[in-house]
Order: sequence, then C-alpha cells, then structure tokens
Amino acid sequence: MNNPHDIRVTKADSFAHIQRDITKDGICVLTFDRPDSCANIFDRVTLEELDRYLNLLEQDAGLKGLVLTSAKKSIFIAGADLHSLADAMPEEIDDLIGFGQKVFSRLAALPVPTVAAIHGAAMGGGCELALACDWRVASTEKETRIGLPETQLGLLPAWGGSTRLPRLVGLPKALELILAGKVLSGQSALRCGLVDALAPKEHLLSIALHQIERGKPHRCAPWHLNNWLVADLLDLKLCGDLKRRTHGHYPALFKALEVVLESVSSTEAESFAAEREAFLELIKGETSHNLVRLFLQTERAKKVVGPDLTPVQRTAVIGAGLMGAGIAQWLAARGLPVVLRDIGPEQIGRGLATIAKLFDEGRKRRVFSAAQMRAGMDRIQPVVGEASLANVDLVLEAAVERMELKKQIFQNLAEESGPRTILATNTSALSISELAAATRAPERVVGLHFFNPVHRMQLVEVVVGRQTSPEIVQRAMRFVRQIGKLPVRVADRPGFLVNRVLMPYLGEAGRLFEEGARVDDIDAAMIEFGMPMGPLRLVDEVGVDVAQHVARTLADAFGDRIPVPKVLAWMVGKGAFGRKTGAGFYTYKGKHIATNITVHDFPTTLEARWLSRQELQWRMVLTMLNEAVRCVDERVVETPEEADFAMVMGTGFAPFRGGPLRYVDHVGAEFVVAEMDRLVALGLKRFTPCELLRRMAASGEKFYQKEEINGNLEKRSA
Ligand code: NAI
Repeated sequence: MNNPHDIRVTKADSFAHIQRDITKDGICVLTFDRPDSCANIFDRVTLEELDRYLNLLEQDAGLKGLVLTSAKKSIFIAGADLHSLADAMPEEIDDLIGFGQKVFSRLAALPVPTVAAIHGAAMGGGCELALACDWRVASTEKETRIGLPETQLGLLPAWGGSTRLPRLVGLPKALELILAGKVLSGQSALRCGLVDALAPKEHLLSIALHQIERGKPHRCAPWHLNNWLVADLLDLKLCGDLKRRTHGHYPALFKALEVVLESVSSTEAESFAAEREAFLELIKGETSHNLVRLFLQTERAKKVVGPDLTPVQRTAVIGAGLMGAGIAQWLAARGLPVVLRDIGPEQIGRGLATIAKLFDEGRKRRVFSAAQMRAGMDRIQPVVGEASLANVDLVLEAAVERMELKKQIFQNLAEESGPRTILATNTSALSISELAAATRAPERVVGLHFFNPVHRMQLVEVVVGRQTSPEIVQRAMRFVRQIGKLPVRVADRPGFLVNRVLMPYLGEAGRLFEEGARVDDIDAAMIEFGMPMGPLRLVDEVGVDVAQHVARTLADAFGDRIPVPKVLAWMVGKGAFGRKTGAGFYTYKGKHIATNITVHDFPTTLEARWLSRQELQWRMVLTMLNEAVRCVDERVVETPEEADFAMVMGTGFAPFRGGPLRYVDHVGAEFVVAEMDRLVALGLKRFTPCELLRRMAASGEKFYQKEEINGNLEKRSA
C-alpha cells in the first residue's frame, strides 16, 4: 500500500525516549524508543516527555492528528517501570499514579483524533496509553499482545485502564480481561472491540494515519452492558467465583472488581480517584510485594548474562520416554534439530507418538500452525542404538532412573561426542558427581533437571557436579534461557532443591493419611494455603511409583528425618500408580475425578483423625519451611531469592506468599520454631527445627532483612 501521508517530512525536536515526526498533512507521530534497551517502559522521565509533547500539541493550531507508535522490534510499551515502583515510597507512588492519570487524560482530551499504532507488547501502562487514544490499530504479528495483567502482580490498572476499558468494551468483557490479567493477540483484541483495525507490521503506520481521517469517534459506552443491573449480577456471580477460586488470597481481584463495577456509575474523575486509592492500598500490601518481586526475579532469570557464548545448535536426547519425548518436542519446537535415541523401535515409536500429540495439542491451542508442527516433527531424527554425536552441542540423557545404567550411557557419551559437547542428565535425584566420575570427561557432565510436564513447567534446575567446569555451567545456563525456560543453579545434593523441599511435604501428607486424616481434608488444607493442587493429588500426577523412588533416594541420604511413607509401597503393590493407571489416592475416569475409596482400606492409625484442617495444613507447611531453610544453610542454592523462586516456579508454592523463605519471614522464625517444638514435644521428632531456624529465631534475623530495611516495607510501616 502506498503511504499518501509521506510521514518523514519534518524531523521535529525530540526528547531522549520519544521521537517526534510531523507528516506533510500535519499529523504528529510520536515514536517511543527508549535508549539502550529493547523495551519501552513507562517511568517518570518518559511520562514527563509525553507531558511536554502534550504542551506543544495542545497549542499547535495546525495539528491534524496524533499517532503513537514504537520503534522496538517486539514491544510497543511493556508497562510501568516495576523496578522503580518496587522501591518507591508510598507518596512517590501516589504521585506517579496521579501524574500518569493526568498525562493520559490530557492525551484523551486533545481536540484532534489520536491513534495508537501497536506492534509488540502493549501491556499495563502501554495498553492504558492506547485506551486513552481515540483509535487503536494493531499489527497482525504474533509479537503483538495487548492486555492489562496488573492483577497478576497483586495490583490493578490505575492509569485509567479500570475506567476506560469497561467504557470501551462493556463491563463483562472488561472484567474478564482485567480479573484474569488476560493478554490478547491483535486478532482477539479486534474481536472484542479493544482495537479498531489490524494491519501487517509494515503497513501499520499508514493504516494508523488513515484512521486519523475518520475523525474523533462519537463513542458512547455500551449501556446495555454498563448499567447497575448488569453490575449487580456480575458482582454476585464473580465475587463468589473469586472467593471459591482464590480462597480470598488475592485482594487485588476483589479491589479490581469493585473499582471496575463502580466505574460505570461514576464520573471519570471519581473512577480515576478510586483506581488510585485502590492501587495505593494494594501496593502497600504483602501480596503485591511478593508477586512483584517474583516477577522481577523471573525477568532476571530470563536475561542472558555473561560472555557471548555460541548458542546450542544441535542436540541429542537419550531416552524417548515421558521426559525424553517432552524435552525433544520442546527443543524441536524452538527450532533445534534433535537426535532422539532409545533402545528399540517400539520405544522410539511411542516417543514419536508422544511428540506428535504434544505438537498437535499446541496446534489446537494455536501455539503452532500446521506447517510449524510439520517442521518441528521434521527436526526429530529418531535413532535406535548407536548414532554419531560428534557434531552435537548438547546431549540430554533421560533414560530410566538407574545409576548403573546412566553410568554406562555416560561412559559411551563421553567417547561418542565431540570434545566440547555438554553432557547433561535429567536425573531427578541421582548424584551428578558420581555419574561424572565414571566418565572420561567429568568436567562436561552437568544436570539439567526439567520438570513434568515439560511444555508447562518453566523451571530447569542446573545441577553443578563437583567436577563440572564453570564454562559448561555457563553454557548450560545459557542453553536453558535459549530454549525459553528459567534456570536456577543448584548444588549436587540429594533431591537438588525442588524435590528435596517437596518430598518431606508429600511425605508428611502421606503420613497424615496413614494416621487417619482423610484424603479430601489433606488436599483441601493445602489448597486453602494457596497450592495449585493438594499433595496427594500431586503424588497421583507424578506417579506413586516415581514419588516412592524419589522418597527412597532422599531417605537413603537423610535417614529418619525424611522417611518414606509406607502407604506408597502399599499402593504400588495394589497397582495404584496414580493418574497413569486410573487410580491412586483418586480415581480418574475421563474428566471425572473422585476420591479412591479403596485407599481407605489401608490400615491407618488414629492420631491424625481429628486434627483440624488448620493443623493438617500447618504440619505440612512446616516440613517444607524447615527443609527450604536447610537448603539455604547448606548452600544448595546461593540465595534465599533463588530458593523461593524455584519453589514457586517448580511446585506452584503459593505465589502470593512469595516462597517458603519469605513465608518464614512473614510468620517469624521464632513462631515457626515454637510450633515445631510443640510438635516435637508431642513425640514427632521429624519436626525438629534446623539449626539456622533456631539461630534466626534467637536473633530475630530475617532472610530478606536487607530488603526490608532498604526497600519499601520499612518505609511503609514508618
Ligand atoms: P520413562 O521410563 O518414561 O522413559 C525412559 C526411557 O529411557 C524409556 O523409553 C527407555 O526405553 C529408555 N532407555 C532405557 N535405557 C536406555 C538406553 N540405554 N539408551 C537409550 N534409552 C534408554 O522415564 P521418564 O519418566 O521419562 O524419566 C527419565 C528420566 O527423567 C529419569 O532419570 C527420571 O528420574 C527423570 N525425571 C522424571 C520425571 C517424571 O516426572 N517422570 C521428572 C523429572 C525427571
């Protein structure tokens, strides 16, 4: 398409973060382009620049329209600068929210038509900027994602988003988007009325300039959707749904619901004031504090740091079972060729079928097109027995969990592979150092512990053996980031970090069952705590046999402190392996899941029969806290942040609590120790608090002491 507007006519004076161009038709184009960054974000300086441009634009009698766009490859505006928000004082936050509202309202009030030309992520503040424009045009590219994800951070849209979105798309849709923190493709945004037109990236600007010709829209809020009756009905339905879903743990959802519902019967000014007040209240709370920090930690984990190492280009996966197939599919989907090796055609066939199914599910969810799926399958090269691995940059072993077998595989791998090939194992609990010592290249052996299901779990533990070279560790960390997963570096200790902390908790759930607590009560107690599923249900998902195997490895290492619950062997004896056999603690028939009444044939004792859910919950939680503290003490991970991050990402540990160590800080080590001592006094020796917990209880020290002093919690309470 020709561009009749010929935009690059006047290169007007520009500021550092936003450039200004004027077309010969008198349309101003403001291009966001944050220096030295691949992303645009809204910080104070960027808002001030926009404010200063608005001074000029308001006085420009010849102005015909305004287009806002971005110079970045895959980001329109990624949202507010969370780093500065996380460290700001309440007054500063209040001021920033007020300032943002004022700037966006000035934009909305310009007498000329305004258009947001969106290519890439328009999140949070970026989306709110677009909402303050008269029109929105989005690119058709997959990088374009538009939404208000603030509730995921325990906050709500407060730069006008909670007010303008319902006025644009109606209450039901606005609430659906805001409460779920949903992010939409350009196509979906068009369908729900959030954007007005789509264009391929290369025509985005010219379509946006055309849009100016449509003038200022005479929009009126969709009254059939935005009236008190609809608001009351939605309140009734959604409030109950939210309480059931979140057990009241996410206050931002209730605040957002309240503010958005009220916005339709308030003036804009009243609604902005409500947004601002609610935002301030939420950001002072612990939930948003924890969620924002987890988000920042995730962003850090995604960043590739260190020397510029050549990315991995060719891979091999040994073992085409559950994990091997899952990993091979993930690698192939990210464009990497994979040699997939197993012991026989039958095993390879099963693996390929799993991979094809995973691709097909992705296609149905529109993650891949049919062509991408075919290309992904073509990248898998199935091999039975030997294959040349000389040109492979990384081999990942995912054969059965037996040390002798793995040693043999690694001895051969060290011979077959090139001198720089990373030799990685996906073992859940075996010692990397022992495995490495059996090979001729121990410095190249590293653990890459993926979690099941591979395509859903973002975390990968990078396990450093005694002899693993620093270069291999760096390359392995980089590889994990290259394939879009989040690495956490852990020491080669039994169970590494995640399973080490998880198993005592699952074990405690098993013991409570053995002592007469009901399956439903045990699981409900932990769902109420904020876990995504109960521990017994999780055992079923992992596989009762797999759980038993990992539990044994930990029991071998730690003895009585982490005993294996007897019920696991009893269930394995009855063929109840969990979900994969249709029965475990629950029965699985299609989508129907019910408690398996036959597990109650297990000869339980009565000690835990009448424990309250609160007590059940507390016992299970304490085991996790104690073990997580030990891991930090033993330097399984370098920092408390890493431990918390890994537990949230690897097990879904109640994210709003920020992880087990933040939770220890929250309730206080002194209280945790007192509670554990109470249980020890009841004869439950396994609750003996670890040394570090005792020391912290005595000194009042916290894991996040520094942050509390320097960060805003301290300032908040001042
Ligand atoms: P699986 O039993 O589903 O698959 C193992 C595959 O390895 C089988 O296809 C088998 O034929 C193959 N195999 C056996 N010997 C071989 C050899 N010499 N050469 C090539 N292939 C060989 O096991 P799964 O569950 O996939 O586990 C694999 C590894 O991943 C284990 O080390 C396990 O501990 C670990 N892991 C398992 C998780 C899970 O949830 N199942 C989670 C994280 C790690």
